[in-house]
Amino acid sequence: MSAVALVVAAGRGERLGSSGPKAFVMCGGRSMLEWSIDALKAVPEIVHIVVATPPGIEAPAGTTGVFGGDERSHSVRAALHHTLAGDPVLVHDAARPLVTPEIIRAVLAGLDGEADAAIAAARVADTIKQDDGGDAAPTVARTLDRAGLWAIQTPQVFRREVLERALAQPHEVVAAATDDASLVETMGGTVRLVECPRENFKVTTPEDLRLADLLLRRR
Ligand code: CTP
Ligand code: MG
Repeated sequence: MSAVALVVAAGRGERLGSSGPKAFVMCGGRSMLEWSIDALKAVPEIVHIVVATPPGIEAPAGTTGVFGGDERSHSVRAALHHTLAGDPVLVHDAARPLVTPEIIRAVLAGLDGEADAAIAAARVADTIKQDDGGDAAPTVARTLDRAGLWAIQTPQVFRREVLERALAQPHEVVAAATDDASLVETMGGTVRLVECPRENFKVTTPEDLRLADLLLRRR
């Protein structure tokens, strides 16, 4: 297998409220991006790593940098177009610094003969309720059946041709997607769920950053 990894690191991190782009914020003694790159480099199946960065910021040593776009999907597309070969294609958010080589290998192995994509996911632990749509004083419309619900993470692994077709869908479709796998779902593709630890969470808020910092310092 000659896999290629695309790491999207071009977001601004508005919800974190840091002074610079989120992927370059220090966490557990190094930048969030560096933790992900180290985990990817430890997986021999991955032969090339492309990082989508904000303009003017260099990608880490041993990776290829490409400028990201205004939306996450634009950053994924820019990084994909920078890789001429490599199949499957793995996509990872730099905002998930707790990813491990074990998680990466498990998701790569999840791309079996029947699947178009394989994605890291954790079973939902909380009871999930849907509101009635009212913003001011919301009430519960229904309780969802937790048994079949998964919280979706990255890495997400795709057959190259599938990811290329997924991202070539009309602009509205691509812009509305909150992850890459959903673009494969809209084409009727088969997406395999690979159960991964909840610890592989995304750093979005200052509380997330504090928790990730504590966990990474203990490694
Ligand atoms: N990302 C990107 N290009 C964008 C937007 C996001 O490469 N135009 C990346 C981020 O760097 C991050 C991942 O996509 O690694 C997940 O996005 P998110 O957690 O939303 O990060 P930000 O967009 O940076 O944060 P926020 O939405 O709070 O501004
Ligand atoms: Mg964002």
